[in-house]
Amino acid sequence: MIERKYPQTRLRRTRMKDFLRDLVAENNLTTNDLIQPIFIAEQSEKKIEIPSMPSIYRHNLDSLYCEVEELSNAGIKTIAIFPAIDSTQKDDQGSQALNENNIVCLALRGLHERFPEVVKIADVALDPFTDHGHDGLVNNDGEIDNDATLVCLQNQALLLAQSGADIVAPSDMMDGRVQAIRSTLESNSFTNTIILSYAAKYASSFYGPFRDAVGSSTNLGKSTKKSYQMNFANIDEALHEVAMDIKEGADIVMVKPGTAYLDVVHAIKVNFQIPTFVYQVSGEYSMLQLSIEKGWLDKDVMLESLLCCKRAGADAILTYAAKEISSELNS
Ligand code: PBG
Repeated sequence: MIERKYPQTRLRRTRMKDFLRDLVAENNLTTNDLIQPIFIAEQSEKKIEIPSMPSIYRHNLDSLYCEVEELSNAGIKTIAIFPAIDSTQKDDQGSQALNENNIVCLALRGLHERFPEVVKIADVALDPFTDHGHDGLVNNDGEIDNDATLVCLQNQALLLAQSGADIVAPSDMMDGRVQAIRSTLESNSFTNTIILSYAAKYASSFYGPFRDAVGSSTNLGKSTKKSYQMNFANIDEALHEVAMDIKEGADIVMVKPGTAYLDVVHAIKVNFQIPTFVYQVSGEYSMLQLSIEKGWLDKDVMLESLLCCKRAGADAILTYAAKEISSELNS
């Protein structure tokens, strides 16, 4: 840092006009940085608003295609889809995850046909499909069975790739999942399928509205995910997770939640220099969006929170605000 003295240096000089502020801006947010998560369900209504997520909807397939068309026109070319499965279809094995006609696979095939250029991300985890709401299989002692779950995740990831996912995103936090999924993809000739690993995923209360949206919160009840998702007190452990996932074959790593975990994003970027994404999760979105809609916070707070993710080192951001904010951004 160069030491300069007042009045030779007045840092306010470059803050005097919009144009000057833009010229010296160190970071920028464009539509290329944003990924829109979308909830889908088998339902007759086109779209149903999610009570705990203002302005966010669960879409049926027709409405999904309209939404993706609009997103694409707005410059958002990457989406992540999440299914809400009817409770009658859930079981303790999450067996619908492996049904090639489940709503995610139908959506991926439909999107692949209609929007081949759109980048489609699909989550690999069992929680939308299990009646206990966990991301993995539960054994007789009530524990999440890591190695038995890996087999399901391998099959699920392969099915998603076969259905048209460009990126599979394991969000389950089982040990060894990236390696297991990578070897299955390679041996089935899906050599170009990208693995976006939720490498540093914390056991967080910020996921509450998402669990309402996919209908897993009632299934989960009082049970927690602390035996597989990370303790939010830790950052060395996040670097350890990332190092392992890179060795196992991850192309992109992700930190989740986002805004409250930007120190983790920064440490990963500085240590590993690989594509690093951040997920501004449902609770983080809802807090801001609700305050905006109530008039308690200015709407610019959303842009601020996203640009801060870029400043911390994120290459891209999954955010429910992607579509809404796109009109304010450069493409
Ligand atoms: C499930 C999954 C979760 C989210 C993405 N994938 C929830 C969880 O782990 O319970 C959360 C996303 C959000 O809160 O926006 N594996």
